[in-house]
Amino acid sequence: MKFVVLPNAAAIGLAVGDVICDLVRKKSDTVLGLATGASPLPTYQRMIDRCKTGEVSFKDVRTFNLDEYCDLPETHPCSYHYFMRKELFDQVGILPEHTHFLDGNTVDEGAESQRYSALIEQNGGIDLQLLGIGRNGHIGFNEPSENFTQESFKVALTDSTIAANSRYFRDIPMPKCAMTMGIGLILRARKIILIATGSEKATAIKAMLEGSVTPRCPASALQKHPEVAVFLDPAAAALLNEN
Ligand code: PGA
Repeated sequence: MKFVVLPNAAAIGLAVGDVICDLVRKKSDTVLGLATGASPLPTYQRMIDRCKTGEVSFKDVRTFNLDEYCDLPETHPCSYHYFMRKELFDQVGILPEHTHFLDGNTVDEGAESQRYSALIEQNGGIDLQLLGIGRNGHIGFNEPSENFTQESFKVALTDSTIAANSRYFRDIPMPKCAMTMGIGLILRARKIILIATGSEKATAIKAMLEGSVTPRCPASALQKHPEVAVFLDPAAAALLNEN
């Protein structure tokens, strides 16, 4: 897995945003796998800026998000549907019918998982999957466990994830479960970019890049993928041997 250390989150946003824009300029109907959280925000801003100058159009792009909370209406400001509309979709004119999410309120998680995998396949598969990483090494909401997950599934969030994300939930308790793409589905993307900034990610980054491949650090599965680029700031890279 190759990694690049850039000076800060803004520099990473410019670099990754440009990778995505260049891909979309070459293939207008690119299929993007997208992430929420703080890590991709500078990237989304770069995409918005280049869209506003007319350098790139997202009109034909298709998107699939990694995950969504359970038991939260998709119109709620803490939902990932809402996040994506606000932080990217409404600003780059992606057609709503081209954006896809797991249904966190499904009553049949198996059927929902099958629907999502089939839809990704019908769209030709994910060209580029964007990822953040949790302090515990999660990607999407694949929390540390005994087995690598495959397709999408409903997950009980760990205390670490709840502690990290509850700051966003001021008015209501944070959901305790989410629907997430599994590791097997994430690894089917043709290319993957993972972004991590800040010292609180340093331990997870070291385990992901230098540790063994183990579901105790779900991101370590990325070692098995041939096309992964990891973008780090100096704090996230601080514990790496070859930094
Ligand atoms: P963050 O979240 O980008 O807000 O740090 C990443 C994650 O938990 O996967």
